[in-house]
Amino acid sequence: MNVLKIIRTNCVFVNKTKLCYFHSSQTKKKFSTKNNNDDDRITNSQFDINFNNILSNSDSYESSIDYDKIIKTFGCSKINNALISKFKDVLTNSSDISTSTNSSQFHLLNKGIYFCHRDFDKIIDIYNHNNNNISNHNKVKTISTKKEHNKQIYLYTGRGPSNKSLHLGHTIPFLFNKYLQDVFDCPLVIQITDDEKFLSNKDLNLDETIKMGYENIKDIIAFGFNRDKTFIFSDIDYIKQLYKLNLKIQKLVNLNTIKSLFGFNHQDNIGKISFPSLQCTPCFYECFPEVLNQNTDWNCLIPCAVDQDPYFRLTRDIAYKLKLNKPACIYSKFLPSLEGTNKKMSSSGKEVKILLTDTLKTIKTKVNKYAYSGGQETAEKQRELGANLDIDISYIYLKYFLDDDMKLSEIENNYSKGIMLSGEVKKLLIETLDKFITLYQEKRNKITDDEVRYFLQIRKIG
Ligand code: TRP
Repeated sequence: MNVLKIIRTNCVFVNKTKLCYFHSSQTKKKFSTKNNNDDDRITNSQFDINFNNILSNSDSYESSIDYDKIIKTFGCSKINNALISKFKDVLTNSSDISTSTNSSQFHLLNKGIYFCHRDFDKIIDIYNHNNNNISNHNKVKTISTKKEHNKQIYLYTGRGPSNKSLHLGHTIPFLFNKYLQDVFDCPLVIQITDDEKFLSNKDLNLDETIKMGYENIKDIIAFGFNRDKTFIFSDIDYIKQLYKLNLKIQKLVNLNTIKSLFGFNHQDNIGKISFPSLQCTPCFYECFPEVLNQNTDWNCLIPCAVDQDPYFRLTRDIAYKLKLNKPACIYSKFLPSLEGTNKKMSSSGKEVKILLTDTLKTIKTKVNKYAYSGGQETAEKQRELGANLDIDISYIYLKYFLDDDMKLSEIENNYSKGIMLSGEVKKLLIETLDKFITLYQEKRNKITDDEVRYFLQIRKIG
């Protein structure tokens, strides 16, 4: 506990110094001499702001994760109304989204679920620049064929395979990536980190891990990505293409940096220590020679959950040394566990999760029995005082999965004022999730091995 408190205080200090932990040569020197050969001191140092520490600081049942603190500590930018309007302008320009058969996920941005970013505004600028050029026929001729004038966007996301079926929390980045792929009409690369899963779980054998990855690829394809603009790759398969660039990255990253970002210690295997460099690699289009046209100046955008930020902070920090484009990122909050807002829904934890394989009956039981309620103890009290929406899991889940703004505002109003009771909100959540999961299962059941082969094939997607 004390250790956590120390780290917490130090986080503030790091924050004040604007995350200078591997920029400043002075602090770097202090770091290496002070922590020489001393594991404990390295993990307790002012440089230790890895994500697990921030998460474990919120240990009271009802307290939420402090996302503002994460923004400050990591030095990200909050997504504000100005940025949301800028993005909305893109929607009016994007022809693809209006013809898309999939529902819009704009609410994930509008409701603050995607809450912070790095350079997302620059990605929008690139889109707008290209789009204005295309809509103006006279300008088309003036577009330079030089690489530096031919900026384009690609998306990058990934998944560490697990043998369990996807839970609701896993769906958020895939739904949002699919949405942004439609909006920007751009390529998407998806990394399956079978290598990392094998290295970090001592009970997994390599062949099993590869098989799990394969099943997970089917789960991912079912989100409906554009098959001509999406490339999925397993690290183990695609390593030949990644390796050259990966080596250049490895040479630029030292052990102290990895320890302070990911909290490894001297007992961790050496594969785990070098792995982060492999998650950095796809941020640079140069590792996709046969997939992305190398005469284009591709700019990477990574939509994912905020716990992935250490990888991309690292990537952005070394990009200039490699003379490559810094990736942009857009980060989501975690879908909380059914049992309370202080936990994310993890695949390994014991908490009750809603799985994408659940039947209506199971969803009903789980929601009714476990969904933490912000409503009052009795109906009378609820009518009188209303619910606390900040901690009400059913309402929070509806924010994620109900894309009907009007209906959500109505629930917000009625439930907080006591016009609605907890049971009614739970019923609405059950209906919403049942619809979502049934649709997903229909698509998942149709994914064939041929379709997997198509997505895995090394081919041009942009
Ligand atoms: N580390 C992620 C996980 O364990 C997987 C991943 C690889 C990823 N590359 C990524 C996630 C890029 C988001 C963006 O699930």
